[in-house]
Amino acid sequence: MSCIYVEGGHKLNGEIDLQGAKNSCLPILAGTLVGKGISVIHNCPRLTDVEAAIKILNSLGCKTYWKGRDLIVDANDVNCDTISETLMREMRSSIVFLGAIIARMGTAELSSPGGCELGPRPIDLHIYGLKKLGVDIKEERGFIKCKVNNKLRGTKIVLPFPSVGATENIMIASVVAQGETIIHNAAQEPEIVDLANYLNSRGANIKGAGDSCIVINGVKKLGNTEHTVIPDRIVATTYLSAVAMTTGDVLLNKANPQDLDSIIPVIEEMGSRIFVEKDKIRIVSKDRVKAIKTIRTMPYPGFPTDAQAPIMALASIAKGTSVFVENIFENRYKHAIELNRMGADIKIEGKVAVVKGVDKLFGTTVKSHDLRGGASLVLAGLVADGVTKIEDIHHIERGYQDIDKVFKDLGAKISRSDV
Ligand code: UD1
Repeated sequence: MSCIYVEGGHKLNGEIDLQGAKNSCLPILAGTLVGKGISVIHNCPRLTDVEAAIKILNSLGCKTYWKGRDLIVDANDVNCDTISETLMREMRSSIVFLGAIIARMGTAELSSPGGCELGPRPIDLHIYGLKKLGVDIKEERGFIKCKVNNKLRGTKIVLPFPSVGATENIMIASVVAQGETIIHNAAQEPEIVDLANYLNSRGANIKGAGDSCIVINGVKKLGNTEHTVIPDRIVATTYLSAVAMTTGDVLLNKANPQDLDSIIPVIEEMGSRIFVEKDKIRIVSKDRVKAIKTIRTMPYPGFPTDAQAPIMALASIAKGTSVFVENIFENRYKHAIELNRMGADIKIEGKVAVVKGVDKLFGTTVKSHDLRGGASLVLAGLVADGVTKIEDIHHIERGYQDIDKVFKDLGAKISRSDV
């Protein structure tokens, strides 16, 4: 079982290049299936979730090649409409392939994604949107069976909640539908904009991505493209939180500061200084941070649920008490229990977490239960007295490329073990 050992108490200094965004890359990889064509995806992060997506693409008939940081997907010979149960289980977000397979094959079959480490994972909004586009969908004994009635047909879809995954699935499927699709109350995340830019670069006609109303005019076919994945705003948040915790001076290169509009003010309010310039973010942190009043996770442009865990690690050693309200996922505080084992003082009551900042955390053995929560334990380890062992780091490796190497290059005492 792989784990990470961190010795706390070392400042972070230096500069790093941010990786491409996992949450952009996965729907874009699904989008490569729509129509024949070859997509060269630049700045594709090397992550276990991306490897799982590649396995899915290969199982459907695509050819994939790595060329340095670029992933090339040749989707000219897609010949299968089914994702096996094993592959579905390997990647929580494999449901994002549903709209793409339907658009390409006219049929699709996959096992229901079921629960996950963040609590139940409903897909009713994905199903609702695809049905509106003319897909006949049956859920039988844990399997979702889809068939397009005649043709995918553009329509007006009003989402009761701006679900990121549902917006992506509807957008991907409607790209080749007949006529116009309008998604009202669409998700507005930067990853939605990146997906739209990728599809448009292949000849799709999507307008309004990034706003709550997206208009897609169906086209007959898509072609080849080269596309660069946007920088990962959650990985950026994680590294900024780490520097704010340890104190130090770090420059993040290849960043999109505007995607962090809800994050940077929080870290500044907690006492670090942040300097932004085009595609760079520099953080300078000298003193112990201060508590933040209340953080409420919300759909974009609100505070992201993915940033809750790293900012909670930061709040755990702040002067004063911070309050978190998790509005997106009901089971997203497992890291708090592990942080408490390191000496943090966090009380959970339903969707609210009250974090009383402590003077010190102490190294011990902790377990990562999910991706962002796992990363928050590495952050805690960077400042804890003694050595922290973080177990089950496969969760972290779903979304962070070489997290141990990045921190080591910045001056941390950290190592990864596979025994
Ligand atoms: C969510 C986050 C996204 C983050 C990703 C990975 C939001 C709005 N979305 O996207 O920013 O990058 O996790 O951690 O913050 N829901 C339903 N029915 C559905 C789909 C979703 O009820 O069919 C509910 C979910 O249970 C959840 C909420 O809607 O409470 C957000 O879901 P959604 O945005 O779809 O989740 P992801 O696409 O995974």
